[in-house]
Amino acid sequence: MQTAIRGAMLTFKDDPFQRDMRDCMVYEADAIIVMEDGLISAVGPAKDLIGTLSSDTQIRNYKNSLIVPGFIDSHVHYPQTQIIGAYGEQLLDWLNNYTFIAEQQFSEKEHATAVAEVFLREQLRNGVTSSTVYCTVYPQSVDAFFEVASKYNMRVQAGKICMDRNAPGALLDTPQRAYDESAALAKKWHGNGRNEYVITPRFAPTSTPEQFEMLSQLASDLPSALIQSHVSENINEVAWVKSLYPECSSYTSVYHKYGLLRDRAIYGHGIHLSDEELDLFSATGAAIAHCPTSNFFLGSGYFNMKNARTRKNPVRVGMATDLGAGTSFSILQTLNEAYKAAQLNGNALSSGHAFYQASRGTASALGLADKIGTIAPGFEADLAVIDLHSTPIIDYRMRYCESLEESLFIQMTLADDRAIAATYVAGRQVYDRP
Ligand code: GUN
Ligand code: ZN
Repeated sequence: MQTAIRGAMLTFKDDPFQRDMRDCMVYEADAIIVMEDGLISAVGPAKDLIGTLSSDTQIRNYKNSLIVPGFIDSHVHYPQTQIIGAYGEQLLDWLNNYTFIAEQQFSEKEHATAVAEVFLREQLRNGVTSSTVYCTVYPQSVDAFFEVASKYNMRVQAGKICMDRNAPGALLDTPQRAYDESAALAKKWHGNGRNEYVITPRFAPTSTPEQFEMLSQLASDLPSALIQSHVSENINEVAWVKSLYPECSSYTSVYHKYGLLRDRAIYGHGIHLSDEELDLFSATGAAIAHCPTSNFFLGSGYFNMKNARTRKNPVRVGMATDLGAGTSFSILQTLNEAYKAAQLNGNALSSGHAFYQASRGTASALGLADKIGTIAPGFEADLAVIDLHSTPIIDYRMRYCESLEESLFIQMTLADDRAIAATYVAGRQVYDRP
């Protein structure tokens, strides 16, 4: 069945960190987007397309709005939904005092299913249509997540956390269990519908070299799977990794040693990486997930995205919330904090660059740029509709707005979940703001 939506539309066809913005940004003030069988079948100015639609095609009109590719969260922990906004600690204490306690509850599949439901509905309310997700060590927490995501037909990537040291006993597996349970979950879920399995060692401090050996084997047995972990988030964490892996020249080289840096490998944070480590990311094709709300909340620091994206050996970057250390499901709010991180690094992040990063840029970091993150024929019909006047102060501020760039900047600075008027997943409307 054919359906269509009509309104202003913004998408990108190329990377403005590498070429002129004018060759990348595509804006259409009055567009029609036609959807069929989960895909976008046609896009263009309404005046050109209106006569081509079949007579029974329903068109939904969005006035004073902007249709964008569904937002993509490239690094997020669904089991931490229940501990968002936990007071007072930096990374390592925050993990011990909040995270590891909450995650133990996910041995109960019913609990996992209930939390996955809250988490995914909240994402849809925020226009997030795709995410790359950490579950817990328990395989049933992974099944629960994929089962709920499949109900909404969302494109999701997720995996079982592997860890065999430096966490409570109930959360530890072993090198063999990490391999066996991950492989069994991948067999069940990888490429099943819109689901993909992600090989997920939590971070270097919680895996022994023996576990990394097994995950290295798993990575070569599953060449098409994503890999995710954390790197260089907090300076005490970096020092700890140095003491645990004294033979490795850097934190990044621990992952490199075990074959875990490659295309479609994505590492959260990367705040304190050296030039040599960024070169290693660039050479292997691995990406960094930029998690600014989390980085400010935990006092971790501020990642220099512009340097990563524009250095001589550039690194791909995905935008991410990193909930529950992150403080918002909203990618608009994530861009707001990314702007502040950029300012602290001495670079202003333009709204065009920010919206690119939130869509095609993140899809590219995940190796999904041929499927999502762009509004064009053949792409999957995952879309978010932003109401450009969602609060009294945004409505007032927009009266003084003189350009598209300024309008986008107002949205990324002031807007949040209240701005999402509708969310479409694979062509089906899954959220309609009351
Ligand atoms: N490093 C290892 N595990 C985690 C986690 O759950 N959240 C964050 N922010 N960093 C981590
Ligand atoms: Zn994380």
